[in-house]
Amino acid sequence: MKRVLSGIQPTAESFHLGNYLGAVRQWVELQKTHDAFYCVVDLHALTVETEPAVLRRRTLVAAAQLIALGLDPDKCTLFIQSHVPEHNQLGWVLECLAGFGEASRMTQFKDKSQKSGADRTVVGLFTYPILQAADIMLYQANLVPVGEDQRQHIELTRDLGQRFNSRYGQTFVIPEAYILKSAAKINDLQDPTAKMSKSAASNAGVIDILDAADINVKKIKSAVTDTGKEIVFDEKNKPGISNLLSIHSALSGNSIKDLENQFAGKGYGDFKSAVAEVVTDFFAPVRQKTQELLADEAALLQLLAVGSQKARDVAAKTLAQTYSALGLVPPKL
Ligand code: TYM
Repeated sequence: MKRVLSGIQPTAESFHLGNYLGAVRQWVELQKTHDAFYCVVDLHALTVETEPAVLRRRTLVAAAQLIALGLDPDKCTLFIQSHVPEHNQLGWVLECLAGFGEASRMTQFKDKSQKSGADRTVVGLFTYPILQAADIMLYQANLVPVGEDQRQHIELTRDLGQRFNSRYGQTFVIPEAYILKSAAKINDLQDPTAKMSKSAASNAGVIDILDAADINVKKIKSAVTDTGKEIVFDEKNKPGISNLLSIHSALSGNSIKDLENQFAGKGYGDFKSAVAEVVTDFFAPVRQKTQELLADEAALLQLLAVGSQKARDVAAKTLAQTYSALGLVPPKL
């Protein structure tokens, strides 16, 4: 069975629609056919300064939400990154392989560091993609289901893996990004040329899965649309309507063509109401299930402990092989 690994940051009170359609939905599918490892990357979340109680809550909400969205801990290995210290250990090895220039070219780092300025940018943000490479290669993953914004990080992972293998002998599986074209980039409802993001300046165009239905209905009804009246998919000239069509299609299962036919001659208002209904119907049970899981924290932590143990078994093996390939002397048992 091929291996899959992916991760998500617990940096918000809820995942947004882009996280679900771009990534988590594929995680749920892939757990049926692959040996799948999924983690809440709490160490990555440390690159954003957060109150300890908030980080703790968000990490548990993230894990509960993943289960509510369809991850089955009996079918996949679900764990918290910081429970598996091998991530940091392999991260260091890969940092010693990555070039400074190479890491400087990561566009997410460039964007984020430009926004906050050099003095307020933490070093962890710079090495972030290298820790991500360790997350992936520690599990010898073949596939990494992510949204388009992560493509460059997967490329870096591949480069580091190939470099290691050619210098020290075959050690790592070289992973491939698994990016679904139709949901690779879900855009902000207020600025449909920018991706929907947790770090958006305003939350008005971000659909949070755990928000109450009325909040999301309001956001969808006030989504920015385009000139003209037709409901047709045209990303260049009608980015707003195209984004809403992608969202409807992904959640309802109707093809974009069918939706265009169904809404031919109807106005933007009717179409937005339909999108709002599809979104709220889809996520109502997820909200409910997340709350149920959070109500029994001990049971949730127990599930995660089982996942972490399974993850550590694999991670420790890869780390031992890596250390040995590097010539690090193992301790005498
Ligand atoms: P994160 O936490 O920002 O996002 C989680 C996943 O959601 C996808 N995504 C989107 N997809 C489509 N449209 C959008 N608007 C959108 N916004 C977010 C992301 O592409 C991602 O797949 N660096 C990663 C976390 C990570 C990771 C890993 C991923 C750490 N280690 C190892 C894969 C493998 C991140 O910040 O994702």
